[in-house]
This record gives sequence, C-alpha cells and structure tokens, in this order.
Amino acid sequence: MIQIKNVKKTFNKTEVLKGVNIDIEKGEIFGIIGQSGAGKSTLLRCINGLESYDEGAIVVDDVTVDIKNKKVLRNLQKRMGMIFQGFNLLERLDVYQNVALPMKFWGIPTNTPEAKEKILNLIKLVGLEEKVHSKPKELSGGQKQRVAIARALALDPDFLLCDEATSALDPEITKGILALLQKINREMGITIIIVTHQMEVVKQICQKVAFLSGGKVLAIGKPEQLFVWPKEQEMREFLREESDKLPSTGVNLKLFFFGEGNQRPIVTEMARELQTNFNICWAKLEDFREDVYGSLVLNMDEKDLEKACAFLDSKNVTWEVIK
Ligand SMILES: Nc1ncnc2c1ncn2[C@@H]1O[C@H](COP(=O)(O)OP(=O)(O)OP(=O)(O)O)[C@@H](O)[C@H]1O
Ligand SMILES: [Mg+2]
Repeated sequence: MIQIKNVKKTFNKTEVLKGVNIDIEKGEIFGIIGQSGAGKSTLLRCINGLESYDEGAIVVDDVTVDIKNKKVLRNLQKRMGMIFQGFNLLERLDVYQNVALPMKFWGIPTNTPEAKEKILNLIKLVGLEEKVHSKPKELSGGQKQRVAIARALALDPDFLLCDEATSALDPEITKGILALLQKINREMGITIIIVTHQMEVVKQICQKVAFLSGGKVLAIGKPEQLFVWPKEQEMREFLREESDKLPSTGVNLKLFFFGEGNQRPIVTEMARELQTNFNICWAKLEDFREDVYGSLVLNMDEKDLEKACAFLDSKNVTWEVIK
C-alpha cells in the first residue's frame, strides 16, 4: 500500500536517507525505530510529502507520488493524519475546535448537524467527551495527545503517521495511547506508521518494524524476529543485548523459546541427558503483542557443545553460539 523505493535525501550535502526500501501493507501497524539522527522523522516527512527527496520513489496504492505536484501533495496529506510528540494543539481553541480544525482548513462546513456529530464522535472515540470545551492548558499530556489523535482522524485518513507520539508520556499513559491506536487500527482499518525510539512501543503494537541506522534500513521484520534474535551487532548495541556481560571462558549458547516452547523443561532435561552442568548466565522473557518470547544463554564446557546442539535440534529448539 505504501512502497518506499530507494529513497535518498540530502541536507546541506549530508546524505540523511541513503536509499531506503520499505513496503508497508494496508491495515498494518508498522514501526520505524532507530537512534537519534537515524533519519526516522525525515523519512516520515517524505512519506506524507512534507519533505521532498532527491532520488527514488514513494508509491501509494500503486500510484507513484509526484513530489513536484502541489495538488497531489495536498491530497496525499489529506489521506495521512499526523501526530507528534509535542501535540501541536492551538492553545486558544478548545478540544472541539481543535478537532474541527482540519475540516475548517479544507473548507468543509463544521456547523452542519453531520459535522457536529462527526466531531463529537471523534472526541468520544478518544475518551474525552467530558472535556469537549476544555482548553489544552486544562488537559494532561495524555489527554492532549488524545485530542491530537482525534484531530488527525477528522478528514477520514487512510493512514495515521505518528512521530514519537508517546515519547513525552509516562509508561501507564503510553499504554492507554497505544491501546487507542490499536483500536483505531482494528475498528477503522487505518494503517498506522509509528516512528519511535521506544522499544516498548514497537513490542506492544507493531506487527512489523524497520530498524533505521545512519539513513539505511539495517533490519526489517516482525519485532519478535528482530528483537529476540538480533543478528546485527548494531542492533544488539541498540538493544543493549547480553553479549558484553557473558563469561569469556567456555562456550555461550543462546536458546530461543517461542509460544509453547516456554513451557518445556528443556534445560534440566538436557543436563540430565548429557550428564553435565551448565551455567545459566542470562535470560529474558518478553511480551510481543499477545505472545511471550524467551531467550536464555547457557555457558558450558567446549566438549559438551556438540552433544548439546544435537539435543536441542532433536527437541526443535532454536539455538545460536554467541561468538
Ligand atoms: N531541516 C533540516 N535541515 C538540515 N538537516 C536536517 C534537517 N532535518 C533533519 N536534519 C538532519 O538529518 C538527520 C536525520 O534527522 P531526523 O530528524 O530524521 O532523525 P531522527 O531519526 O528522527 O532523530 P530523533 O530520534 O532525534 O528524532 C540528522 O542528522 C539531522 O540533523
Ligand atoms: Mg525524529
């Protein structure tokens, strides 16, 4: 539905996007994660036409976006609701007026009964029916972001683009906002693209994620594939993975457990079968949307490695020797 094809972008002779390729499917919640300066916001602004690019193409619903055509860009922006870390609400307007703003901007009458119903329904959707006439300064951060979400939906967009939408909020409030985004995705069928540096956000709601580094996509896939078993050193560093804390003697063997694999007594069984002992030196369990994924690292004698791997293969357990 959105295809980003080899997009390159240069600011003052510095290439900040170095040929980005990403496909985002209709109805997906897609995460873009990476360190500060990786180019995440720039990429998002290219997607909604706020920023031009030097090379490559962005194809939306099989039509290549003509970035030189102002009318095309305006229509594209109408289809893409946007929310930011800073909410960007107008302080002198109340909740209702802020939500109605995009319709005003597009010359859509806001005083008809249908328009009023629509605006009130959006305010209800985000759970702010009690605050219809409050000004932004009377709202908490989470509530302000809810207003911004309602406003972003005012023109019935097909896409919702979120740039660090929860970065300024505490973890509990973040959960509420993420649940709201999930509801919007499920019930309204809106495709959501989330730019964030928060792993928790990606783990909780994204079905797919691209890891951006230095203007390039370093890895792309399901969050559980990328995070539980990161192959790239840079990704490990970003995730602050276990590798720097492991024993330097013997061999470190990492085991991965998915779904019901979490329930099996693999390690004790293996110790008994191989008649040896292991040191469990690192482990973690993580929630990814509805599933739990686990990984643990065993430190063992070099001589046990071959037998251990054969045992794990026989039990269909995924493993990897950590170098
Ligand atoms: N308008 C601009 N003019 C010049 N350089 C820019 C501009 N916008 C971004 N950059 C540069 O492009 C690079 C990528 O910036 P971008 O804002 O896309 O990063 P980001 O991944 O969103 O980072 P953060 O997590 O801090 O928001 C940075 O080096 C930044 O300094
Ligand atoms: Mg940014």
